[in-house]
Amino acid sequence: MQRLFTGLQPSGTLHIGNYLGALKQTVELLKDADGLVMIADYHALTTLKDPEGLRTNIANVVRDYVAVGVDPKKTIIFQQSSVLQHTELAWIFDCLVTVPFLMQAHAYKDKVAKGLDANAGLFTYPMLMAADILLYDTDVVPVGADQKQHVEYTREAATKFNLAFGETFKAPQEKILDAVAVVPGTDGKKMSKSYGNTIPLFGSKDEIQKAVMSIVTDSSGESPENVYNIHRLFRSGDSLVNLYKENRGKYKALKDALVEDIETVIGPMRERRASITDADVKAILKDGGDRAREQAEKKMIDVRRKVGVTI
Ligand code: ADP
Ligand code: TRP
Repeated sequence: MQRLFTGLQPSGTLHIGNYLGALKQTVELLKDADGLVMIADYHALTTLKDPEGLRTNIANVVRDYVAVGVDPKKTIIFQQSSVLQHTELAWIFDCLVTVPFLMQAHAYKDKVAKGLDANAGLFTYPMLMAADILLYDTDVVPVGADQKQHVEYTREAATKFNLAFGETFKAPQEKILDAVAVVPGTDGKKMSKSYGNTIPLFGSKDEIQKAVMSIVTDSSGESPENVYNIHRLFRSGDSLVNLYKENRGKYKALKDALVEDIETVIGPMRERRASITDADVKAILKDGGDRAREQAEKKMIDVRRKVGVTI
């Protein structure tokens, strides 16, 4: 069976871009894979300095994963911070890669260009991600297109370590679902929480309605392109083409139909989410942390011996 590993930062509320670009695909792949799903809380700390917010977000991500269909009995759901081997291995990788190499990371450059604090954690972020992935002999990493380079960095870290200390890490492959590689937001640009153009994944129907009504439409064409580009992710084929033919120029009717189509997908997941208690969340994280730690420690025993810190 293939080993699958993915992670998500607990840095805010999920939107449908996160779901269609990452979560949905992960759930599909997890059906026939041996999987680990990690809440990247230490990665979130590179940008978030809000303990209460972080705590809430961590619990929310667990609920989100279970609600979209990840089975915590089969798949390991865990917090990055509860398996200390991640930060330990990241340090070893930091000592193998160069500053100019890390300086080429798009995500780092983009975040700094947007005015985020250029802290050292943000800079070495890719090596913590490499540790996440490589500790578990991962084969595939389902992520959105923006994370492709981070998986390339991961392969590079594996190669550098293997060359320096002997064959230890397996090279993972990113898995990007091309058709929805970039989900557009309400303004037509990439949907992202940092652009304020999102449609919430677990918002109430009213919130979804509000977001859909705010989709920017231009009056030049007969079909509202931005509405269509989101709609095609929820309905396909002739049914979608006919809907847009029948409602030519009727933007309100098309937006109403989009709200209904989103609701059909999200409604049942929202219900499942509401049934998950705080105690369930704690139990899932405890069990997942224990299972992940056991595997990570096995790998680190070998790594420590190879680098020479075990005497
Ligand atoms: P955001 O851009 O809102 O900050 P994150 O960076 O937290 O989102 O992304 C979490 C996951 O969701 C990543 O795997 C990312 O690639 C994916 N993702 C985020 N936004 C989109 C989008 N608009 N289209 C496709 N995938 C996305
Ligand atoms: N960097 C990823 C993001 O922003 C989150 C992440 C951390 C991750 N570690 C990972 C994703 C390991 C996949 C594998 O979305």
